[in-house]
Amino acid sequence: MTDRKIGYIVGSISSTSINRRLAKALERLAPEGTALVEIPIEDLPFYSPDHDADYPQVARDFKKAIEDVDGVIIVTPEYSRSIPGVLKNALDWAARPWGQGSFDGKPTAVIGTSGGGIATAAAQQHLKAILSHYNAPTLGQPEGYVQTTPGLFTETGEVTNEQTAEFLTAYLEAFGALIERYAPVAVAA
Ligand SMILES: Cc1cc2nc3c(=O)[nH]c(=O)nc-3n(C[C@H](O)[C@H](O)[C@H](O)COP(=O)(O)O)c2cc1C
Repeated sequence: MTDRKIGYIVGSISSTSINRRLAKALERLAPEGTALVEIPIEDLPFYSPDHDADYPQVARDFKKAIEDVDGVIIVTPEYSRSIPGVLKNALDWAARPWGQGSFDGKPTAVIGTSGGGIATAAAQQHLKAILSHYNAPTLGQPEGYVQTTPGLFTETGEVTNEQTAEFLTAYLEAFGALIERYAPVAVAA
């Protein structure tokens, strides 16, 4: 039985994205009772405040998908020491209309992979600042810096290195604990 639903956003629309492979790996390693589902961003148009009075359906669906899950993992590349524009555009849709931010109170976690030694750490710092502004509690530890080597993840998300698989499993467990901490408490009538 699945009792927890985690959404994930991939901050890359590349057809060969290594971050998508990492997301697939997380999907595979999800603990019993937890389902990971993608919240896609590639069909979102550019955000403009002109849309605030009447959001297009694709953006309404995007916001609802965030609001409907127990937590959101953002799996992102680093572009020039920050997050890619496609991801920032998606986050802008989520943040508006004013007062209706979809991330308000939503448990979040960030993770990413690149071949570089700091493995998207700079992008993740920017992303955490944005999520803090959204009032979204964000996983502090473990930090999701995954340095890619050729073949580390297969296209379908198999992890070929045992230590990496163990790290990702621990990462998901820690995020599950954060979600638990922020879960609404049912009050008996
Ligand atoms: C515009 C651009 C900027 C980049 N800047 C960085 C960077 O700042 N740090 C880094 O580690 N890799 C950087 N890279 C390399 C990416 O890590 C690499 O292209 C990676 O495969 C992107 O993730 P993806 O495959 O999931 O799309 C950059 C790539 C592009 C296209």
